[in-house]
Parts: sequence; C-alpha cells; structure tokens
Amino acid sequence: MYREKWRPQLHFSPKEKWMNDPNGLVYHDGEYHLFFQHHPHSKVWGPMHWGQAVSTDLLHWEELPIALYPDDLGQIFSGSAVVDKHNTSGLKNSNEDVMVAIFTHHGEDNEKQSIAYSNDRGRTWTKYEGNPVISNPGLKDFRDPKVFWHKKSNKWIMSLACGNHIRFYHSPNLLDWSYLSSFGEEYGSHRGVWECPDLIELSVEGCDEKKWGLIVSVNPGGPNGGSAVQYFVGDFNGESFTCEDDKKMVKWADFGRDFYAAVTWSNIDEPIWIGWMSNWQYANEVPTDPFRSAMSIPRKLSLRNQDNTYILVQNPIDLKSLLGETIAHYEKVTVQPGIAKNLNVSIPLHIKGEVKEFDRETSSLKVTLIGEKDEVEILFDRKSSELNIDRRKSGNVSFSEEFPSVDTMPLQEIYDFEIIIDCASIEIFLNGGSSVMTEILFPNEDYTSLQVSVKDGNATLKNVSVYKLNSIW
Ligand code: FRU
Repeated sequence: MYREKWRPQLHFSPKEKWMNDPNGLVYHDGEYHLFFQHHPHSKVWGPMHWGQAVSTDLLHWEELPIALYPDDLGQIFSGSAVVDKHNTSGLKNSNEDVMVAIFTHHGEDNEKQSIAYSNDRGRTWTKYEGNPVISNPGLKDFRDPKVFWHKKSNKWIMSLACGNHIRFYHSPNLLDWSYLSSFGEEYGSHRGVWECPDLIELSVEGCDEKKWGLIVSVNPGGPNGGSAVQYFVGDFNGESFTCEDDKKMVKWADFGRDFYAAVTWSNIDEPIWIGWMSNWQYANEVPTDPFRSAMSIPRKLSLRNQDNTYILVQNPIDLKSLLGETIAHYEKVTVQPGIAKNLNVSIPLHIKGEVKEFDRETSSLKVTLIGEKDEVEILFDRKSSELNIDRRKSGNVSFSEEFPSVDTMPLQEIYDFEIIIDCASIEIFLNGGSSVMTEILFPNEDYTSLQVSVKDGNATLKNVSVYKLNSIW
C-alpha cells in the first residue's frame, strides 16, 4: 500500500529512491517485466542499477530486488531484454527459456554493450563472461541497445543510439555482433542527443498494411523544452532503415513535457510501450518522497495513414479492471458560453467521450481541474488550432524554474478524448490517440472538481463518462 503524497495510484513508481528510463521490457511466461534505471541509495541520479518489477496485467506491479548492479566495466545504463526461445546464445541451462538482457556498460572510459542472462524467469541474473559484446568504436555516446528477433532474415537486430544517429547491428546468437548500417544524421530533431531507440513493426489502422517505425528519444530539444520522443516511419529490410518522411519533418510522439525514453515490450504480438513520466530539465528536483519518478500508463501503438503521412497512434491499455464508481455519464451534453459545467470528482480519474459538434463561432473549449488552492487549465483554442496545458498554478511548481509552464500541441479539431488523471499526472489522448500530451503535476491537495466551459458558441459532447479509478496498490 503506497499512499504517500503524490504517490501515483495508477502508475508504476519505485518503492523508494531514484528512477529514470524503463529498461528490459519483455513478456515471458505470463509476466511482463519492467526493469528501470535506478539509484537505490539516493533520490538523485547516480550510479545506475537495473531495478525490476513484474506484472501479469501491466497495471499491478510487484517490485523485485535489484536485477543488475554496476561492476568493473561501469554503471548499468539503459537497454532491452529478449526471450532466446531457440537458445541461439547457448546460455540456457534449465527447463525454462533463457532470458537475455542487453545493456550499456557506462564506464569512466567509454560506453559499450554487454549482456546478462536469467534461467529462472528473470529472478536472478548472471553477467556474461565475455562482456562487452560490442566494444566502443570511438564514440562518446554509444548506448541504449534495443534488440529484437527479425523473422525474415532470421537474426537478432540491435538499434543503438550514437549521439546524432542510430546504428544497427546484427547477430546470430546475441554474443557476436556486426555493424549493419546507420540512420538519422539528416533526419528529425537534432537539438539534443539521441537516446533510447526502438525499431518496431506497426500495423496501419483499418487495413492489413504494416510499416516500420523507428522511435528515438532526444534530450534536450522537445517541442515544449527538454526531453521528448520523436519517431520516423518507413521500411526495414533486415539491413537498413529507410525513412519515408520528409527529412526536415519532426514527428513528436507526445507533446507534453513528461514522456521520455519510451520503448516497447518484446515478445508480445501487438506493440505496447511505456515511457518515463519526467523531463531531464527538473527530474532530479520533483518534490516527491521517498521516491522520484513514475512511468506512464502503458500504451498500445499503431499507425494511421493521414493524407499519406503515417502518424503514430497511442491508446492506453484497457483500464476496465480499475474502474470504480461512475461519477457522471452523459449521452449528450451541450456546454454554453457563460454557463460552465461543474463536477465534483476524486482522483484517480478516467474521462472519456466524443465531440458531437462545435458551433462555428465557438472559439475555445476549456477543461479546468480545480483544487482548494490550485488549478490546471486545458484549453483547446480553435482560432490558433492548439491545445494548451497551463500548469503554472497547478500546485507546487517552485522546485524548478523550468517546471511552471504553458505547453502547446498543434491541434486542428477534437473528435474524441480520453484523459487519465492520477495523483501527480495527467495524460490526454485525443482523436483516437493521434494527439497525446503527458504532464506531471504536484497539487497541494488533490483536485476535487472539474469544470468545462466554452467561449463564443456551444460545444456538444456525447457519450461522456467520468469514472473514479481504483488504486493499483
Ligand atoms: C535517457 C538516458 C539514457 C541512458 C540513461 C542513463 O534518459 O540518458 O541514454 O542510458 O538515461 O540513466
């Protein structure tokens, strides 16, 4: 039972101390594993370990003892994990399939890639004797290996972040790796260093088509400052990734300030990812205790073909098992200028609904989350075609100058919305999941009411439901 102030009740957070990126996401034998960058002795980033948690439903987590400790080769930076079903590595030594973790050893000299394996369903890990499996070729940034089995070419493929580009390597056995190709110097956002890549095959909504997506985190340089996740869509032929997007185009997965280092689970059929809900601009200062940081809600991924551009679509996993009392349900509700709709709510909260229509004159739709002393404003401005989240008065904002902000996402129209509000975060999914914003918040007291208002014309919403969600702890 974790009930400390600002302790997320729907999202994974470590029992105590520092956490950053999700690592080693893999499904095995009925369990989803979530490893994470962890400093077990401090609430501030420091020598990195891999913490670990498991879940059978991606919602309820059991934290396990630390999986990987720093050693002579360095700290244990971010990476991935796979189930080596055919024992290509020869590291299997029990009746269980062997799990292999591939991570960066961040040494004082340089960064290199190493592996560790587990023959007991991820409960204990042994580092491979022949580490590192990829030594440093003379690059300062050389990290965050994400590995998957590429069926067509019958081999393992690794994506690796190398400062301003991604390198791909291949291997028959997870031990011997060869360089394949590079991508990215001329593409996307380069206002920061590239980190945490993930190459995945994604289904295109409403048809049988599949495309390859390359996920790349970048820090700093996000659309509203600091850390953010960008993506590229194209093809992967077993050797190289070809991007079909315009070179100068930057596609952001999430326009909020607090969604970073997101990667997908391996060994599942449909891609699901999770991100770290923070931003390197202030992650070390957020006012929680005795822990620091939480993960996002896990999200299913696909693509939408929108006028021949492929857009990433993210939708939260099914939260039915957490649904508590219904706070409100409207088949149809019209909001008029000057007459706000108010609801008493309690957190955590799930809001879902559709926009039936706006009057032509309607210039904005605003949702305000209100607490005794605090408020957060979410404003859809139809004139500037933007969604803004204003968290300047959201609660405790003084721990960092970078934190109080009005953050913006370009948005032409709203057709539907799903909003998840936890004790210290809000995640907004619009238009079937193609426009997403994630932000953390530290209200002085829990928010207790929700107000919806419009300007200059009506907004008619339909099938709106507001539910309390039950705690996962
Ligand atoms: C991303 C990152 C990774 C690195 C890890 C270190 O947030 O900087 O590139 O492996 O964090 O904790």
